[in-house]
Amino acid sequence: IGKNIIHFDTIDSTNDYAKHIAVDEKDGTIIISEEQTKGKGRLGRQWHSKESEGIWMSIILKPEITPYKAPFITLVAGASIVKALNKLGVNASIKWPNDIIVNDKKICGILTELSAEIERVNYVVLGIGINVKTMEFDSEICDVATSLYKEGYEVSRVDIVKNILTEFEVLYLDYVVNKSKKKTLDICRVYSAIIGKKIYIISDGERELVKCLDLNEEGNLIIETEQGLVKEIMSGEVSIRGE
Ligand code: BTN
Repeated sequence: IGKNIIHFDTIDSTNDYAKHIAVDEKDGTIIISEEQTKGKGRLGRQWHSKESEGIWMSIILKPEITPYKAPFITLVAGASIVKALNKLGVNASIKWPNDIIVNDKKICGILTELSAEIERVNYVVLGIGINVKTMEFDSEICDVATSLYKEGYEVSRVDIVKNILTEFEVLYLDYVVNKSKKKTLDICRVYSAIIGKKIYIISDGERELVKCLDLNEEGNLIIETEQGLVKEIMSGEVSIRGE
């Protein structure tokens, strides 16, 4: 991972560029840009990616796995980011399955895009956006978004990237080569922002208050409804908002 790094001062979206070149690139190639003019978030949202304010990067991955095993890579990434940040002294946690938060606000989002056939993955583009130095957020997101500097953590972007890649390589190989989810799940549990708490699950526009009990061995979230019903939810199935 990261043996080949392509750096831009500006680009529309590192994820879009990565998808464009993925077929011809090696596994583990990284695209990183100082600025994105059309940074993409999940659910078609925009991701603010101003010059030098954060880490905007995408990793091209070519794992030999079946497509249904690909969503777990988002958790692998989340676990590496949360572990790397904690090693750098940042009190960060994971809001399953896609967000990293500090002081209850989002500092990092993950956007995983997959190209696959029925039986095999062509490539995965793992997009990571981390707000590092941003001080001003647009009014629609300022209640929910923050940056490391804003929360009092002056950490260098290079150190963050290096630490993430070190952690990611270990967890990713453990998953795709050893077929083990254990290392990732242990980290996701230890640094979970939601296990043991009540959260809102939003699915098909309906909002339901539930208690998060645990992550199971697949990486799915186990929840208990207000009626005492225990259910398992898969990543990607719902959107959650912690309370
Ligand atoms: C989210 O909605 O939480 C996901 C945000 C992902 C943002 C990153 S920044 C680098 C990469 N390129 C993009 O256009 N998006 C991702």
